[in-house]
Amino acid sequence: MPSLGRFSQWTFLNKKQGWHPSDIGLRKYCRILSFFWPGNIIRYRFMDCNQLLNKQYFNRQDIIVLLALRGNGLDALYRKSQQVREKNVGKKVYYRGLIEYSNRCAKNCFYCGVRRGNKAIDRYTLTDDEVLEAARLALNENFGSLVIQAGERSDRGFVEKIGHLLREVRKLSGGKLRVTLSLGEQTEETYRMWRNSGAHRYLLRIETSNPALYKKLHPEDDLHSFQMRLKALDLIQETGYHVGTGVMIGLPFQTLDDLAADLLFIKNHDIDMVGMGPYIEHEATPLFRYRDQMQSKKERFELSMKMVAILRLMMPDINIAATTAMQTLHPQGREIALKTGANVIMPNLTPLKYREGYLLYEIKESTLKEGGLGNKPL
Ligand code: 5AD
Ligand code: SF4
Repeated sequence: MPSLGRFSQWTFLNKKQGWHPSDIGLRKYCRILSFFWPGNIIRYRFMDCNQLLNKQYFNRQDIIVLLALRGNGLDALYRKSQQVREKNVGKKVYYRGLIEYSNRCAKNCFYCGVRRGNKAIDRYTLTDDEVLEAARLALNENFGSLVIQAGERSDRGFVEKIGHLLREVRKLSGGKLRVTLSLGEQTEETYRMWRNSGAHRYLLRIETSNPALYKKLHPEDDLHSFQMRLKALDLIQETGYHVGTGVMIGLPFQTLDDLAADLLFIKNHDIDMVGMGPYIEHEATPLFRYRDQMQSKKERFELSMKMVAILRLMMPDINIAATTAMQTLHPQGREIALKTGANVIMPNLTPLKYREGYLLYEIKESTLKEGGLGNKPL
């Protein structure tokens, strides 16, 4: 492997980015420093980037330092993650056709434009024919897989309908098209039924691995419990799916320490694929009022790229998606993510007339119109 060059890097972390217990020895010195530079330097670290990037395992502290890299150090991280990607999953990009099946949702997450409390949007559900047409399109385009995503519902009608659609897609493709579901928390019975009807993978984002932050992002009721979310992830694993999860990056109140813990959570949960992306504010949501208390869009995008790169180093052969939210913050967002370590793209196959109804966050017109039925997918 070519040498990354030797250099070292000072990393300054501020109060917002969080503490780690292993810093205790530095605290006294930092307290003196922060007396002169209030609220700013809480902790610093002198790092040899080569040494750090070549470590077999990253601990939480290492990940925080990697997330704070800039300049040469950051270039070295990206070079390394690109090498690791090519060595372990090759240059290949997997395409998964995405269907945003319905924007009806029983939940009220504080960050999401599709939340039940948003009365300003028209609610839709695709017809069976529209789903099957999208499945045909995915087959014709040689996408190996279809992702069916929707707001979260667990009523009998919905559960049965998904089972039916899964069986129809299996029939239509002769079992050739693999199906990923992203339909939220369900009972064990439902997960089992959908698995037996033809679903292979299930994507359930944990959103954040920090229970206290999770609480700040959701109403406090049984429908939005962190423990239930964890349990659902276990159930999905137990019922035989390939499991995907992910988090939002750059949320208000989130620290680098939280993000480091998120990556360790993913690593420790035997996850097969990851879809994570920047948090993007939406005017019609309660979290919008904290928009001044978070990083700029540019910083959130960069942080997302760092998360992808570090995850690639931590889990060399995992599937990592270049997500729509990345593309929303940067015109070449997905391409950059692929270079950085991602290897999956999910072109949107949802008919255009429904797209405006599925705005989880503010989105640009161009992103809204790409792909889709009647349009040439990416
Ligand atoms: N910004 C970024 N991602 C969001 N999601 C929902 N709302 C937002 C937002 N405002 C993501 C969540 C959810 C997935 C369907 O979309 O991670 O799990
Ligand atoms: Fe519903 Fe998912 Fe949005 Fe939460 S994030 S409101 S579950 S669509």
